[in-house]
Parts: sequence; structure tokens; C-alpha cells
Amino acid sequence: MTGIGNAAGHGVRRPRSAAPPPPTPGGAIEAVVLALGSHGDGIAESACGRLYIPRTLPGERVRVRLGSRRGDGLAAEPIEWLSAAEGRATPPCRHFSRCGGCSLQHLSAEAYQGFKLERLHTALARARITASAVAPLVLTPPGGRRRARFAAVSRARRRCSVGFRERRGHAIVDVVECPVLDHRLVTALPALRDWLDDLLTTGQRTEVTVTQLDGGLDVVLDWPQPPTVAVRERCAAFAGEADLGRLSWRAGPGLPAEPMVQRRPVGASFAGTIVAVPAGCFLQASVAGEGALIAAVLDAAVDARRIVDLFSGAGTFAVSLAAAGRHVLAIDSDGSALAAAASARPGITTQTRDLLARPLAASELAGFAAAVFDPPRAGAAAQAKQLAASGVPTVVAVSCNPQTFARDARLLVNGGYGLERVVPVDQFLWSPHLELAAIFRRNRQRP
Ligand SMILES: C[S@@+](CC[C@H](N)C(=O)[O-])C[C@H]1O[C@@H](n2cnc3c(N)ncnc32)[C@H](O)[C@@H]1O
Repeated sequence: MTGIGNAAGHGVRRPRSAAPPPPTPGGAIEAVVLALGSHGDGIAESACGRLYIPRTLPGERVRVRLGSRRGDGLAAEPIEWLSAAEGRATPPCRHFSRCGGCSLQHLSAEAYQGFKLERLHTALARARITASAVAPLVLTPPGGRRRARFAAVSRARRRCSVGFRERRGHAIVDVVECPVLDHRLVTALPALRDWLDDLLTTGQRTEVTVTQLDGGLDVVLDWPQPPTVAVRERCAAFAGEADLGRLSWRAGPGLPAEPMVQRRPVGASFAGTIVAVPAGCFLQASVAGEGALIAAVLDAAVDARRIVDLFSGAGTFAVSLAAAGRHVLAIDSDGSALAAAASARPGITTQTRDLLARPLAASELAGFAAAVFDPPRAGAAAQAKQLAASGVPTVVAVSCNPQTFARDARLLVNGGYGLERVVPVDQFLWSPHLELAAIFRRNRQRP
């Protein structure tokens, strides 16, 4: 792996000296980057303690400006490169040095893919898990991200800022290009700015989630109070001008979204079946990444007759399995997402349930030939324990967090499952995140 060092930043030796001298914030020092940390920052040891330096690579010597405390060290901003490493590439986006959306655009393709795979291998090694096979990293193309959550602030006598937050701090980077996003999201930005200029009062902030669906853009505006008639009228005008599919509002993240304008039916296509997804419901980040995950799930579970899909959302996997003629029980806490899945295909029954508080018990898992399990980032240890105690022959874990995946995988392995194969999927382009699908088969009976 070219010049990446230990991706987690562990094993980087600290200097022997006792307590480091107090750093002078804003002071400049020279540092040599030893490794990339799990967030993609270069890690260096200095007389002021450990430094986290964005946009650098292992082996590079840089002059940095010391910043504020960060975890066990200090944030530091590179101000001059005294030597550049082999794995360096020219970032494709003009916003890269400020925008908090991407942290790895400065890596060559080889170094980048090495970083992603090392995240998986490090997590598996820490949990002492051996995978019989790790498939090559599935790459997804630039311009494939179908959803963005834009922050916006209205400024006196200037255009509204709409974009992503800075890497450090709360300022908003006014995005004019983004090689990660589907181009239709970027093309909508000027109209979005005009609309928010009209809607927000000076200094007012909000967030807008924009998703590219079949049928057009699906926009959700965060708005703390029920919108007034005047706000609704401005929203209706914007929806028409920008040719949106649907425009909704919600009181805040995680709360249900209420459509204000529906101009056309909108939906997501899972393995060829269109699902009328509710506004704001979870979707995989990219169509290409979603396709790779569906292929891995179908490959592992399509021979099973009865399948349970835990944390199913609107049925990315349940609908794809039902389209292949399987009977699926889909379970999620989002009842409207489940209703959308069930109405898209026969063969799907649903249960609305909080699986973190009340995981499906081993006794309830009896009779299923396969379980798919795709929890939020924090993983689902309680559900993994129940799966580990069940007799389900095949478990497919889908995860966007190798650390929590490895923790939950360890529970399955302790319960007698073997990890047959992991498919890493790079659907969070130029970020340190990695998606994966992992296939477990029960290789010994329950103790
Ligand atoms: C990573 S998404 C996966 C969704 C789906 N498998 C897909 O690929 O589109 C995680 C899902 O967990 C659901 N979820 C979050 N917390 C939950 C809980 N406590 N109990 C059940 N489901 C939950 C969310 O509604 C979301 O649909």
C-alpha cells in the first residue's frame, strides 16, 4: 500500500519526553506525517503532542499552524509542503481545502483504495475475526451520490450561502461544484439559493435535504414551525420553477416530513421495482453502491425461502428479494417506509418495531432460512446477540461502519457463525467511510 502507513494511526510512537510543552495556538512548526488516521487526517508526533493534519500523506514534511485541542492531540493546518509523498494526487474539487464533505481527494487511486481496505482489515483484526474471503473493493463513480443535506444561512445584502459545513467550524462553504453529487443536485443549487434568499430572514439558518429519485428531485426543508400560507406559496413557486417532483417540510432531522407540494409521483427503484418512498426516509447513498449491496444480499440469500430483513427501511433488500419470489418479513422502526415496501410487491409482510430496544429474539427467528441485518452506524449488538443464539443458517450483515460491524460480527462468530465473505463497497466517495456486506453461515450448532 503506497505510503499510507497504519490507517488507524495506532502504533505511531510518541516521543519519550515527559509532558509536552503547552502549544502556542497559531504558532507554526515543522512536522513529518507518519500515518493516516481513521478520519483521513495525517498524524504526526511533535514536541507539542500528537498532531492531526488534514490533506497530508505519510512521509510528507510540512509546516503547520497549530490549532485547537482535538482528542488526544491538536488540530494543525498545513501551510507549506516541504516534501510531497508519492501517493499524492490533485484534488478534483475547488472546495476541497475548506469543505467538510471530503477528506481524501488528495490521495492517488492506489493509496485511496488501500486506505479504504485497511479500514476493514484493521477493524476485523481488532475483533480477531478472519474472513474466508474479502472481495475486491467495489468502486462507485464520481457524480453518483443521490442525496445531499445542504446547510443554508441568509446574509445581509449578499446571496444566501448554501452548501456543506467547513471541515472545522460552523461556516458554510457556498458550493458551486461537487464531484461527489449527482449533477442534477448541483444543477439545482442556483434555484435553491434564490428560493432560500426569498424565504429566510437575515441570519436565519436552515437545512435542506435534496434527493434525486425516479420522477425528479425530492426536497425536504427543515422548518421549526408549521409553514405559514406565505411560506407555502413561496415553496410552491420554487417547486414549479425548479421542476421538483415533491417538496416537504419537517420540524427537524429525524422527525416525519410532511409533503407540501407533490408535482409527480417519486420513487426509488430497487432491483427494477419502483417503491414510492416517503419523504426523508433512508436510502443508500448511491444507486451504484445500492446495486452492489443488493447483488451481495441476493447472491447470499436468494436460495432461502423465508427471509427476515432487519432494519429494512423502505425495502432495498426486502423488495429485491420479493422480486426474486422470496417471502420476506421486513422490520423497521419507520412504519411509513415499511408501508411503501409492502405496497410495492406481494410477498412482503411487515412489522414496525424498535429493534434496538426490542431485538427480534432467537425464538422469533426460528423458521427463517436467512436474515439480513442493516442497522444504523452504531450497529446493533443486542440484535446480533439474538442472531448469534438463533439457528438461522445464513446471516447477511450490511454496514456503513467497519468498527461496529466488527463488534457485532464477533458476537455472531462467538455464536458459531463463520464469516464466509466480505464485499467492501466504496459508496461514500473521498470520505473515510466504508460500506460493506458480509455473509455469515452457521458452521456449528448453537452451544
Ligand atoms: C442503514 S438504514 C438501512 C435501511 C435499508 N436496509 C436500506 O438499505 O435502505 C437503517 C435503518 O434502520 C432503521 N432504524 C433506526 N433505528 C431503528 C430502531 N431502533 N429499530 C428499528 N429500526 C431502526 C432506520 O429507519 C433505517 O431504515
